[in-house]
Amino acid sequence: MILSKSLMNGSRKPIRRILTGVRPTGKLHLGHYVGALKMWVDLQEEDYDCFFLLADVQALTTHAENPSLIEAAVREVTLDWLGVGLDPHRSNVHFVVQSWVRELPELYTYLSMVAPFSDVRRNPTLKEEMAAIEKKTVSLSEASKTTLGFIDYPVSQVADIELFTPPAPHQKGDALLVPVGEDQVPHIELTNRTVRNFNRTYNEVFLEASARVGEVPRLVGTDGQAKMSKSLGNVIQLADPEEVVTKKVGQMFTDPRKLRQGDPGRPDICPVYTYHQAFGSESNLLGSRDLQARAEACRQGELGCVECKKELAVALNNLLDPIRDRRAKAEKMALRKILEEGTARSREIGVQTLSAVRQAMHLGYPQIH
Ligand code: TRP
Repeated sequence: MILSKSLMNGSRKPIRRILTGVRPTGKLHLGHYVGALKMWVDLQEEDYDCFFLLADVQALTTHAENPSLIEAAVREVTLDWLGVGLDPHRSNVHFVVQSWVRELPELYTYLSMVAPFSDVRRNPTLKEEMAAIEKKTVSLSEASKTTLGFIDYPVSQVADIELFTPPAPHQKGDALLVPVGEDQVPHIELTNRTVRNFNRTYNEVFLEASARVGEVPRLVGTDGQAKMSKSLGNVIQLADPEEVVTKKVGQMFTDPRKLRQGDPGRPDICPVYTYHQAFGSESNLLGSRDLQARAEACRQGELGCVECKKELAVALNNLLDPIRDRRAKAEKMALRKILEEGTARSREIGVQTLSAVRQAMHLGYPQIH
């Protein structure tokens, strides 16, 4: 038998994994789609083992008093994922329920010993979310106070990511990719500082994670606020029926100085135009206008908001139609089995990672007989 070169020198094939996730607190919306989901769907076609995490424990950090909401959201998010075309029937795609992975809390405990607190304290995403909780703009939750679990969720997210580290010794080509919305990038920076501390203190166990951010890092809300967000009530959900989408688009905020069709408009400050930019390329149904022509017609007062919105509604419904169809089919699928299988695979990896961690931290105590 001829041994390949890689087998002879003890190396293995590169291990390339993706880990990413979402906190299940409700249905997903267009901001999730352009910020992350679309990129996930593309990545599953590539040569990665993909783990998509339903971060229900993280959802508990703000919704502990509402387990039934979380259960409903786990199901809705699973349907949204299937709807956009993530495909757990492929051998490289796994849906994972965070609370079912018993290895995660253990890894989180160990990693919290080398996670820099100063980083968590400065974390801009965490700060923003804490402010929202204190102001009670976090919807659907009775929680009026920040919990300890919430403050520490970035560290638990480090564990979510690094449970999937390719095993050491790392080979050229190994990868741990975390495709996320822009707001998650500080958590990945924390991950890598924690990884460096661990590897320096013990042995090299963990591979650093690489962030990848979606095409449209932050989608404006239908009301023109900086971010599409359920708690702000300015979202178009992936599961919204056609009439609802058309109605929401009809009510969208536009340039307040453009009162009638003939008034010159400012596309750069108009969320309707921003959506044409973000979604137009998807639809093939932009009417007769390309983006530049649309902006120009708006500026010249040739194109009125009513017509522009109608065209957007058509484009969005075109994009959402196949998603709605797949979602409806997914309602009849055995979702539990999908979640159990994906979770089981992630636990196999978790057991291996933890064994390397415990060994590196000397927790076997070989001197004790
Ligand atoms: N924080 C993410 C959110 O709010 C969810 C999440 C949990 C996550 N663990 C993760 C994202 C690990 C990326 C990687 O939706």
